[in-house]
Amino acid sequence: MRATCHFLLPMSSITVSHLVKQFANPESGESKRAVNDISFTLGEHEFLVLVGPSGCGKTTTLRMLAGLEPVSSGEIFFGEKRVNETRPKERNVAMVFQDYAVFPHMTVYENIAYGLRSRGAPAAMIKERVPKAAQIFRIEHLLQRKPRQLSGGERQRVALSRAMVRDADLYLYDEPLANLDAQLRYQAREDIMALHKEKQKPSVYVTHDQSEAMAMGDRIAVMNGGRIEQIGSGAELYERPNSLFVAYFIGTPSINLFDVEILAEDQALFAVSTAFRLRLADSHLDALRPYSGKRIKMGLRPEDLHVPRLATFLVSPENQIQGVVNVVEPSSTGCAVYLSTLDETSRDYVATLRTRMPATYLGKEVPLAANMAKAHYFDPATEKSILVAI
Ligand SMILES: Nc1ncnc2c1ncn2[C@@H]1O[C@H](COP(=O)(O)OP(=O)(O)OP(=O)(O)O)[C@@H](O)[C@H]1O
Ligand SMILES: [Mg+2]
Repeated sequence: MRATCHFLLPMSSITVSHLVKQFANPESGESKRAVNDISFTLGEHEFLVLVGPSGCGKTTTLRMLAGLEPVSSGEIFFGEKRVNETRPKERNVAMVFQDYAVFPHMTVYENIAYGLRSRGAPAAMIKERVPKAAQIFRIEHLLQRKPRQLSGGERQRVALSRAMVRDADLYLYDEPLANLDAQLRYQAREDIMALHKEKQKPSVYVTHDQSEAMAMGDRIAVMNGGRIEQIGSGAELYERPNSLFVAYFIGTPSINLFDVEILAEDQALFAVSTAFRLRLADSHLDALRPYSGKRIKMGLRPEDLHVPRLATFLVSPENQIQGVVNVVEPSSTGCAVYLSTLDETSRDYVATLRTRMPATYLGKEVPLAANMAKAHYFDPATEKSILVAI
């Protein structure tokens, strides 16, 4: 496949093809695939965010890109050049490590200067860039300190400054903001994005925080068990998740999942449970008809449940769910309401409303209207989306 497209690839794009990393377990001797056949192309100015649960292979992927971990199989290309056997230093990659790996015996200044110095950068460049990077990450007053005299968040900013001070061909960030408080985190995020705009180089950024992923990534790759489940823009992953896993992982609060049976009645289909009977949107009928009479999982995002009189679509008994209000959490845009269904399953679900709900609603029964055109459906056996062709 590469032979056909290879002259179209810009010099500084990155291609990962069927990458696998197998680790041998020292105790059992068995080997395990930490990264299991992942492929993607990173545009020359692209900022890709990798998200996924602990142990899904994010750090291992970054380490293979940096050349710190030999690949078991598959290929990595920087532009046209296959770099599988290229040593880390020759790849010209800047990486911020998850444990921020700063040198304890060096001052903050020397730590930041390290990458430049070890590549023979001229003294004048070091003198100009180190204080500038330190200033961006607000550690300019700490330049003469040693890392043990710093907080975890400050050390993390030293590691960020050290990576960002360089002119690399690829920037890799492994959860670089995990130790920062909310405000610093927000600032550092802005600073990274500003520097990325300036440098215009491909970047891969790992985070656990899906709202950070949505805010920063041109595209987001959701990893699970060593594989990439889906890669796309934040909006694509949110609106058209191809699996139950992606649907659940992207969006806060998480999507509400209900076990339903699909029942046909005349030309219509209904998603039926002991708690509700919801008419499927016309746009979903073709995809769902083969599931008529079967049990599947239906997902409704908290944002797609509305106070009936404020809904922008036609409300009827065929798109309402009755529930009892357990908790109301005010937010800047309205509130999150935690409810449970009225049937014996007492299934918990959550709605995020663009209005305040007075505390008098606590313990009361309320109907909410579901925007069925935005519903998601998953095959219970494969956990793949029924709506998104893969
Ligand atoms: N050197 C190693 N030897 C054996 N197994 C390893 C090694 N490094 C990582 N693993 C295993 O590979 C899997 C992926 O690890 P990795 O560090 O890439 O996960 P991660 O997605 O970065 O997780 P986290 O979010 O916790 O940082 C894990 O099961 C881990 O235990
Ligand atoms: Mg990791």
